[in-house]
Amino acid sequence: MSLVVLISGRGSNMRALVEAGLPVSAVISNRADAAGLTYAAGQGIATHVVAHSDFASRELFDAALAAQIDQYAPRVVALAGFMRILTPAFVARYAHRLVNIHPSLLPAFTGLDTHARALAAGVCVHGCTVHLVTAALDHGPIIAQAAVAVRRDDTPERLAERVLVQEHRIFPQAVRWLLESRVRVQDEQVHVRDANVSAQALCVPDVE
Ligand code: GAR
Repeated sequence: MSLVVLISGRGSNMRALVEAGLPVSAVISNRADAAGLTYAAGQGIATHVVAHSDFASRELFDAALAAQIDQYAPRVVALAGFMRILTPAFVARYAHRLVNIHPSLLPAFTGLDTHARALAAGVCVHGCTVHLVTAALDHGPIIAQAAVAVRRDDTPERLAERVLVQEHRIFPQAVRWLLESRVRVQDEQVHVRDANVSAQALCVPDVE
C-alpha cells in the first residue's frame, strides 16, 4: 500500500499527506526548483525530477513520468499542486487511483486563478475539492469538498490562505480512503465506506 505524490511547486499539500502519516514512497516534480522537493528529501523520501521541458510532446513526458511512478508500483498517485495537463493515456493507466486536489468547489472554477475568479463572480461560498482524475480537466468523481465563507474584504491571497487550511484537512483524509480501498464509484458518484465520516464533518457525496 504505497503512495506516489506529484508536485510542481511549494508542496504544502504533499507535506500534509506526509504529516498525516500516509505511506509516501516518492515525490516527483516536473520542475527541478519545486520547493517541496527539499522538504520531502529532508524527510528521507525518494525524490525525482521529470522535467516537462526535456520532452518534445505531452505523450513523451507522460510516458517518462509513468515509468518513474511505476518503479514504486503505488496503490495511489496523488496530484498535489501538479500543474500539468495529463494525456488520456496517462489518466487511463491510473484509473480510479489518480486523485487531485483543486482549489474551488467543483464544478465551479476549473482551471487557474480560482480565488480571484470566485471573488470576481461575487460568490459567498468558495472552497476546495478532492476528486478522482478523468480525462476532462478538473472533472471526475468528487470524493470530498470543504467550503469556506467569502468575506467582503477578501483578497485572492487571504481567501487562498483559508481554502488551503481546508485542503490540508480533506486531502489526506480522501487519500487515506483510497489507500484503504474504501472508495467505490458507481455512475460517476463516489461512495465512501467509513463509519466516522460524519464525525469528521467532511462533505462527501455518500457514506455507506
Ligand atoms: C493548491 O492550492 C492546489 O489546490 C492547487 O495548487 C496549489 C498547490 O499548493 N492545485 C491546482 O490548482 C490544480 N489545478 P501546494 O504546492 O502548496 O500544495
